[in-house]
Amino acid sequence: MKIALCSDHAGYELKSIIEGYLESQGREFEDFGTHSTESCDYPDFAHPAALAVEEGRCYPGIAICGTGNGIGMTLNKHQGVRAALCWNVEIAKLARQHNDANVLVLPARFIDPVTALAVVDAFLNTSFEGGRHARRIAKIPVDQSGC
Ligand code: RB5
Repeated sequence: MKIALCSDHAGYELKSIIEGYLESQGREFEDFGTHSTESCDYPDFAHPAALAVEEGRCYPGIAICGTGNGIGMTLNKHQGVRAALCWNVEIAKLARQHNDANVLVLPARFIDPVTALAVVDAFLNTSFEGGRHARRIAKIPVDQSGC
């Protein structure tokens, strides 16, 4: 399955670095933009990437903005997305083991590229533990009552 990539202008350079890394690993991806460092709005790229993950066209996703917060907030509006902001390897592993996160969110302005690639590697190569964590993530989506 292709990995869904998206970023805003603040995340564009790190997204390009990650794409080079994924290519070197022989991993396929789809780039939902942005495609330059020109100022833009992260929801324009986060929503299409989130839909691709929700609909099973891509898995997992990697999303990047300056802090990771705006793009992560946008992604998590999608009921089928569990986007996790990760800035070190341990948090990335736990996001997979405990939360079955399906989108990795990186804060481009607060992480160096070497750490970011280590985080990507950890995220892509760690499995969900299931068990009690499966019960918990099943309760995350909001139902019609709002709970
Ligand atoms: C862009 O300047 C910045 O606001 C954005 O990348 C992100 O950090 C928002 O949450």
